[in-house]
Amino acid sequence: MAAIAFRGVEYECRESETVLDALLRQGVALPHSCRVGQCLTCVLRGLDGLVPPEAQAPLRETLRRQGYFLACCCRPQSPLTVSLPDEGAIYARARVLENEPLAPLVWRLRLQPAEPIDYSAGQFINVRRADGLSRSYSLASVPGQDAALEVHVKRHTGGAMSTWISDDLKPGAEVDFQGPNGACFYVPGRPEQPLLLVGNGTGLAPLYGIARAALAVGHSGPIHLYHGSRHAEGLYLRDELVAMATAHANFHYTPCLSGSPDISGCRPQRAEAAAFADHADLGGWRLFLCGCPPMVTGAQRQAYLAGVDLADIHADSFTLRELRTEPRP
Ligand SMILES: Cc1cc2nc3c(=O)[nH]c(=O)nc-3n(C[C@H](O)[C@H](O)[C@H](O)COP(=O)(O)OP(=O)(O)OC[C@H]3O[C@@H](n4cnc5c(N)ncnc54)[C@H](O)[C@@H]3O)c2cc1C
Ligand code: FES
Repeated sequence: MAAIAFRGVEYECRESETVLDALLRQGVALPHSCRVGQCLTCVLRGLDGLVPPEAQAPLRETLRRQGYFLACCCRPQSPLTVSLPDEGAIYARARVLENEPLAPLVWRLRLQPAEPIDYSAGQFINVRRADGLSRSYSLASVPGQDAALEVHVKRHTGGAMSTWISDDLKPGAEVDFQGPNGACFYVPGRPEQPLLLVGNGTGLAPLYGIARAALAVGHSGPIHLYHGSRHAEGLYLRDELVAMATAHANFHYTPCLSGSPDISGCRPQRAEAAAFADHADLGGWRLFLCGCPPMVTGAQRQAYLAGVDLADIHADSFTLRELRTEPRP
């Protein structure tokens, strides 16, 4: 058992318990969401003691050097003194320019950062409400092409952040955000390489950014985007994507419906099923997979079996908050 000192109080951390689980169990309210090292909302700073390297691995070098780590990935072997992150090092301020529905359950939120940020299409930011609630949203905007940061937010019934964004957040309001984060983004180069983009729900957001970024730098290889939804109203941005396919001979858009009757122009199956049926041999391709975790995990495995080099598989799984209050067994 290791001790964790936080704000002058000492807390126990049980054998193989994470710092996040230990502090939550003892009544400390810490921002967190995915609990699996993905969303980066649980960043803390180590002031004294040894932080295991795996708790720092997902963070950028500048933050690692300052002692920042992810509380949900940190199982300390010896006493640790930790603090909340330094606001200026982690968070930036943005003003809401626009917040409008794109579809019955999807909101397009456009944010104007106080200072320009350096990001790549497909990365994600963490939006933070004034009370500390923080959630990850992938960027649909393209640097150099879109003046504002754009995210697409699915409204979850009972979801703390998504219902606040859809119901309460108005243009002119200010929010804090952290990022950019994540490694699921388009890197210019190998312009003839075929790209396969597969997403469901708001997993379209980063793919929309990635496709536009690739086209903007003259990617000449085929770019196939498959977007899946259970219901027709979830296939948002259809007109824009059809227009992109008309404007660029190498861009192909396939909307897929898995839970509705056949609708003209849509494949009656899941996006990943349609993508792998159309492209059985993916040797030499680059893949981007975004959306709900079971789709992303299954498609990663299938892509590897279809011949994609592991280094060419880029994925962002939209892991929801762990609602369990007890630590994982
Ligand atoms: C890397 C990454 C990128 C992401 N990108 C996007 C994106 O681009 N767009 C997007 O829409 N989302 C994205 N997400 C998901 C997003 O971060 C949030 O998890 C999502 O918006 C839900 O947050 P919430 O606060 O509204 O729901 P939470 O309050 O966290 O609830 C999570 C889920 O539990 C349900 N729930 C809440 N309370 C209860 C309860 N008492 N009992 C049972 N169920 C309950 C909610 O309906 C919801 O489905 C991403 C996640 C990650 C990790
Ligand atoms: S990275 Fe720790 S809660 Fe998501």
